[in-house]
Amino acid sequence: MDVDDIETIAVLGAGNMGHGIAEVAALAGFDVHLRDINEEFVQNGYDQIEWSLDKLAEKDQLSDDEADAALDRVTPIVDLEEAVADVDFVIEAVPEKMDIKQDVYRELELHAPDHAVFATNTSSLSITDLSEVTERPEQFCGMHFFNPPVRMQLVEVISGEHTDDEVLDLTEDLAEEMGKTPVRVRKDSPGFIVNRVLVPLLNEAAWLVHDDVATIDEVDATTKYDIGLPMGAFELADQVGIDVAYDVLDYMQGVLGDAYEPCPVLVEKVEAEQLGKKTGEGFYDYENGGADVPA
Ligand code: 3HC
Repeated sequence: MDVDDIETIAVLGAGNMGHGIAEVAALAGFDVHLRDINEEFVQNGYDQIEWSLDKLAEKDQLSDDEADAALDRVTPIVDLEEAVADVDFVIEAVPEKMDIKQDVYRELELHAPDHAVFATNTSSLSITDLSEVTERPEQFCGMHFFNPPVRMQLVEVISGEHTDDEVLDLTEDLAEEMGKTPVRVRKDSPGFIVNRVLVPLLNEAAWLVHDDVATIDEVDATTKYDIGLPMGAFELADQVGIDVAYDVLDYMQGVLGDAYEPCPVLVEKVEAEQLGKKTGEGFYDYENGGADVPA
């Protein structure tokens, strides 16, 4: 299959990443089936796409017509069979749990056309382990976007043990068609390139606060202004989702060892369901002023 043969893309999961990936695909001219497990989740994802497109239009990064056309290309769907029956490419962005993702792939395999490529937006999990529950592990790879997808340029394209080179080439072409810059990750390893580097940084920042070395504000001031990151470490944890950072660390600890043990400061936030921007509160309070207001 060539990238020109891709007309319809299913995005499974309408959350933080899924809705953003669907938006990027629709902006690139693809028909998009945005699927989640209930009406509320899928409608919420659709509403977020509408919000984001309006923002881009407000800032003259898109015309109103382009924003309307992109939204028209997104069809919200709950039924999985209907969502994937006639698609050419599937991007899965469901919660970062191996068993949840594998269950989705088992069901997906029953309904997706034989030619469709499966790409997972996992942040860290093994592409190989996910691919092996399907009957098409050679047609399976990682396609890892960054949050927020509409603003972030990079896409990691990750090979599983069984992935065909043509599938990696196709996925890179697709990323380029979406206006992104793909980077190939040749070996399936926890966290791939970016999260292997980035998430331990977030964890170390949390340990500094845990050990009373500095406050959240002080850590964020140095990471933002001195290291040169676009956001402080805690702002970034709120942006990506503290639960996502935790899940990546937990998986990396299991595979790579205790150097990746999630800091209790992160664990407490996950237990309190204060997960960052998406829940309105994480390390900062987004209901009352965002990154200027500690939670
Ligand atoms: N769509 C449209 N507009 C959006 C948006 C979206 N999805 N998200 C935020 N905005 C808007 C904001 O509402 C704000 O609007 P306002 O000005 O009207 O208040 C505006 O964008 C902010 O944009 P600015 O241009 O003023 O701000 P920046 O230039 O600072 O850009 C940023 C914001 C691109 C998010 C930048 O801060 C950044 O690059 N941060 C780092 C993000 C990052 O590193 N992400 C990767 C995390 S790792 C990951 O995702 C992997 C995962 O597996 C864990």
